[in-house]
Amino acid sequence: MSTTTYDAQASSRGRKKVTVLDLRNKKQHNEIISMLTAYDYPTALAIDQAGIDVILVGDSLGMVVLGYANTLPVTMEDMLHHCKAVARGAQTALLVGDMPFMSYQTSSMEAVRNAGRFLQEAGMDAIKLEGGSERREAIQAIIEAGIPVMGHLGLTPQSVNQFGGFRPQGRTAQAARRLLQDALLLQELGCFSLVLESVPARLSSYISERLDIPTIGIGAGAGCDGQVLVSHDLLGLFERFTPRFVKKYADLHGEMLRAFQAYMQDVETLAFPAEEHTVEMPENEWQAFLAETSA
Ligand code: KIV
Repeated sequence: MSTTTYDAQASSRGRKKVTVLDLRNKKQHNEIISMLTAYDYPTALAIDQAGIDVILVGDSLGMVVLGYANTLPVTMEDMLHHCKAVARGAQTALLVGDMPFMSYQTSSMEAVRNAGRFLQEAGMDAIKLEGGSERREAIQAIIEAGIPVMGHLGLTPQSVNQFGGFRPQGRTAQAARRLLQDALLLQELGCFSLVLESVPARLSSYISERLDIPTIGIGAGAGCDGQVLVSHDLLGLFERFTPRFVKKYADLHGEMLRAFQAYMQDVETLAFPAEEHTVEMPENEWQAFLAETSA
């Protein structure tokens, strides 16, 4: 029996499932790729209905949903749980699951096994992982297993302790050269796309022009082949810290606060629940109940 919900079916109407080939075609036709993060069913529904190309279940989950200071504590089980919810909501966007810290760094075999779980158990179409040449073997093994891989270079948050904080990357000639070499390597290994995070705009434009595979930028300027944002940042849901490169399209934290305060006031003043929110029983049944209980 299909577990697809009514809403999810509705969202898929009018759009074919987006594939990794569609992203490559978009680049070839100079069409910009849109990507957003999601971690739950209702957000996935809305992003899918909006027509966004790619949904990333990012390990930013750790910071914007689970309240950790960085992405390092996020586990495979955390990721799979949220990927499953997103997969139930999104029927047409390409779904990418983010491999968490320590799920691909210890051995290629473990990397393949964990990458496989995103597709086999959690309904993802592809995985993303962070790093360049130091991840060559893991990336190669995952791709050889038939799993599409999105790379991630620049500010790779799982290396926050190595970087000494969330700092832009590739700002010296040497660092820029290393980034370009890593980007070319990821393409050669067979990655279908590449996230560039917190990289100087002219460097990401240069890399995007040199590559056949599409680049997706975050804090990397307008010269990438696509853009991604963390949806909680875009919606103004995550108040703790907003990076400079985020554009806020809503103030949902403010909206939540207003709604919660209005509810509290209604409860305290007995304005809620009103008659229309209340279930009643027929008068004769009530009278019968009173007669029986007081007899
Ligand atoms: O985890 C995440 O949300 C990401 C994006 C910022 C690209 O990796």
